[in-house]
Amino acid sequence: APLTQDELKTLVGQAALHYVVPGEIVGVGTGSTVNKFIDALATMKDQIKGAVSSSVASTARLKALGITVFDANDVQSLSVYIDGADEIDGQGYMVKGGGAALTREKIVAALAKQFVCIADESKLVAALGNFPLPVEVIPMAAGQIARKFEAMGGTATLRMKDGQPLVTDNGQHILDVRGLQITEPLAFESQVNQWPGVVTVGVFAHQKAHVCLLGCADGVRTIT
Ligand code: A5P
Repeated sequence: APLTQDELKTLVGQAALHYVVPGEIVGVGTGSTVNKFIDALATMKDQIKGAVSSSVASTARLKALGITVFDANDVQSLSVYIDGADEIDGQGYMVKGGGAALTREKIVAALAKQFVCIADESKLVAALGNFPLPVEVIPMAAGQIARKFEAMGGTATLRMKDGQPLVTDNGQHILDVRGLQITEPLAFESQVNQWPGVVTVGVFAHQKAHVCLLGCADGVRTIT
């Protein structure tokens, strides 16, 4: 039988162990694919110093498996950051934030010399923009930011949870923007970053992936 998407995630989560440097602290992302990586990381927990985490959820999972979690402020740099993506293109540019963890993900990625993206092959795209773009915003700016995306041809909706606006780990809200074609990710990220009230835009171009471990039917493909 062909591998399921879940099995592909397990494969790339295990493959990412090769990028973990013994004796060091590793940067850990968020999501269902990263959860496989965290489970695999537990098998070498005695060989690493610990982790810096990008979400409350990943911190809980790391700690439950006995992996020490360090505050990002106590770390000057990381050799490697390992995280999933909602979309990744052939140049390593990504859309992230489907799990609402984009802000801390970008912060931890910015500490790392190398970003290793782990994903099943459904995440590889020719151009970014099909997946609704997550943008973390200060709640009082959500309306004006939504209108700016609408002027660009997009449609922004406030992400909801249990009938209320979703509140991120940082106490902010998320806009999901549909209908954008992100043809120049670097310029797009810089532009949106300048709008007042934008906390983080889910385009990861300035913090792009250097390596992508892509789970495919015939195994793990490494794209550099
Ligand atoms: C979390 O906010 C996201 O950036 C995730 O990294 C992304 O949504 C990938 O998650 P999955 O591995 O669950 O697809």
